[in-house]
Amino acid sequence: MKKLLFFLVFLSTGMTAAGRQRVSFDHDWRFVLSDSAVMATRSYDDSHWRRLDVPHDWAIEGDFYVGNKSGASGGALPGGVGWYRKRFDVRSMMSEVEGGKGDKLFLEFDGVYMNATVFVNGQRVANRPYGYSSFQCDITSYVTDGDNVVAVRVDNSDQPNSRWYSGCGIYRHVWLTTPRDIHIKQWGVHIQGTDGQSTPRVAVDYENPTNEKVTVKNTWYAPDGKSYATLTAKNVQRFLWSTEHPYVWQVKTQLLVKGKVVDEVLTMTGFRQFRFDAQTGFWLNGKNIKINGVCMHHDMGCLGAALHEDALHRQLLKLKQMGCNAIRCSHNPPAPELLNMCDTMGLIVMDESFDMWRRRKTQNDYARFFDQWAERDLTDLVLRDRNHPSILMWSIGNEVLEQWEASPEASPDPSEGGEGLTADEANLVLNKPHDDLSYSPPKEGSGEASLTRRLADIVRRYDDSRPVTAGCNEPSPNNHLFKSGALDIIGYNYHHQWVKDVPRNFPDKPFLFTESVSALQSRGYYMMPSDSVYIAPREWWLPYTDPSMQCSAYDNMHASWSSTHEELWDVVKHTPFVGGQFIWTGWDYIGEPTPYGFPARSSYFGIIDLAGFPKDIYYMYQSEWTERPVLHLFPHWNWLDGQQIDLWCYYSQADEVELFINGKSQGVRRKGQHDYHVWWRVTYEPGEVEAVARRNGQVVARQRNRTAGTPATVSLQMDYQGRDLSFVTADVVDRQGTLCPHAADQLFFTAADGLEIVATDNGCQMSMERFTAPNRQTFHGRCMVVVRGKGTLTVRGYGLQQQSIHIK
Ligand code: GAL
Repeated sequence: MKKLLFFLVFLSTGMTAAGRQRVSFDHDWRFVLSDSAVMATRSYDDSHWRRLDVPHDWAIEGDFYVGNKSGASGGALPGGVGWYRKRFDVRSMMSEVEGGKGDKLFLEFDGVYMNATVFVNGQRVANRPYGYSSFQCDITSYVTDGDNVVAVRVDNSDQPNSRWYSGCGIYRHVWLTTPRDIHIKQWGVHIQGTDGQSTPRVAVDYENPTNEKVTVKNTWYAPDGKSYATLTAKNVQRFLWSTEHPYVWQVKTQLLVKGKVVDEVLTMTGFRQFRFDAQTGFWLNGKNIKINGVCMHHDMGCLGAALHEDALHRQLLKLKQMGCNAIRCSHNPPAPELLNMCDTMGLIVMDESFDMWRRRKTQNDYARFFDQWAERDLTDLVLRDRNHPSILMWSIGNEVLEQWEASPEASPDPSEGGEGLTADEANLVLNKPHDDLSYSPPKEGSGEASLTRRLADIVRRYDDSRPVTAGCNEPSPNNHLFKSGALDIIGYNYHHQWVKDVPRNFPDKPFLFTESVSALQSRGYYMMPSDSVYIAPREWWLPYTDPSMQCSAYDNMHASWSSTHEELWDVVKHTPFVGGQFIWTGWDYIGEPTPYGFPARSSYFGIIDLAGFPKDIYYMYQSEWTERPVLHLFPHWNWLDGQQIDLWCYYSQADEVELFINGKSQGVRRKGQHDYHVWWRVTYEPGEVEAVARRNGQVVARQRNRTAGTPATVSLQMDYQGRDLSFVTADVVDRQGTLCPHAADQLFFTAADGLEIVATDNGCQMSMERFTAPNRQTFHGRCMVVVRGKGTLTVRGYGLQQQSIHIK
């Protein structure tokens, strides 16, 4: 699977197609965290700057600090202005690839956060405020023979501008493309008729500044390698794209002049039949299935926002193994590689454009650019992404404040309101417009409905094959966005209590939870009694304090606007018209540490923690969403003698589970129709607790949790090995190899024989250790280290036996 994936990611970039060259422009940049106009000039001496490759995120290298303007919501990491410079000689770069230099030179940035200004040889070529948009600069007329300099100023100094960690810098890939004069435009290939029932066709948008006659030729490549000059609906039926069989096709588009190929682009595509139905929910290729999705922000934990295919693949793989079949790119355009992976891994995508429109949520956010840039950013998103078979819906916004209130006519004045608030206060106030408090009835003729229609129309102008929705946290039909009539799917964020009224309030409209759950959990921390639900904060505007700064990993803690996992899944599972949900969130992310403030600096919402360790709830989903047998008994078995302990168990493919403590039965439990776990309240005694699952009276699985003794050594395990990066977990264990669940040991990593330590993490939301440090305290016994290359990784800790692992 991995091999195929990388092959396809590679192909989709169109690296060495005839007629044009497209080469990576990631390598060997110079970087400085400083600002001066002179840094744009050709002759500027940057030899003392740091040398690095992009993707790069300078914020992740910094220290968490309460005074950083991003606030805890933004991850409490630094912002500022940074410059990147790169010298290049087009001829020597291109001579490495077949075909040499073309007539045109385009620099493509997949994403720069934020406010990027690009200069070539001192001349300003382009500016792009939105940090998530991909953009191309035509640098043909700025480049000379021989040495050239491209300089990029990245300005992320106006903070807060995000409700989560954004990262800073050229954090996605950069490409140099050299087509001929006659060439296919950027995103100029549009594959249509992909519903598995129509005749597929390709619309090609190209430049031809000459008088030559251009012929367009398309060749289709099926997943079995067969090629077709034309396709019929029947041809594609054998290889429909689905979440179980994500068949992808390739289209080779060529421009020919006098029979000679002058340009060529490869595009990944796929065919699938899908629909959202107001009564029966979601259908894919004739099958009624639930969208079992998660929301994801773009950071990759301790690697920050800097895109890394291995880290991204690890994230998606763990979600897929849980049974997740969909990703919502919240709340912004994703990296192109994420979409390629979703195509090839069988993950449905909801592609989302904005977290705000004209009304801002944080003081310096995208609202200030909306009027000037929204049309361009939204257009580019659709043009860039519309060929991906995985994308099944577009979202034009998340919880935009226009749901309730009239938009100001122009961009808001940054000096008005919000002043005097800390980043976190501003975030809190603006993020959570509570229904009861801030709802004001729509004013007749106000602009929100037409704005909604305008944005939905932009999407439909470039792609009418997918529905348009928006994540809405105002469930009433008076919501301006719903009232506009422009949304094809009613998307609720939370408010599951309102779902029963959906058929009455929105007759004939399909429905989906565009966002759900927001339960709060720290891996390895348990609040008892487990049958009490802890709401934190009790109301969105109230502070919540608990000296532990942790949240409960039983599914018994959530925010006031949200629910437990089981509560929401029960609604989705048993309500046929609900098409599915996107859980907030698949993985923890940096920033938004609800319900705490600094020193908490990353989220508690994830099903998987920031380091990549699944929290217990992962196995609840696996038991419901997959066919694989699951037996997961928790928590650990290290308590105080005589303490009352609640033991929970998720299971599947079995009828019942019996619990034993040191061989004594504690009773048999079975799940009812609306149960997703079984549990026992028991008295702790050291030793062993065992869950035994039976089916038709036969034992099908067992799990034993032992009381751990004193920490003795560290168990190093390969968690994920990619092409470039490896993720190794380090567990503090006793002499028998049992995880010590309370261990908070400082572990020190060293790398030898060519191996390099890139980052460390432990999933703890309030750890103040730098992510780039080669040491890390274990959190509930565990931590993780990211290494690059091959060689030996050694771990040491006080009183712990040293261990090594060889990475081949
Ligand atoms: C939602 C919002 C998300 C995140 C989440 C936390 O309202 O759309 O971005 O803030 O709340 O619960």
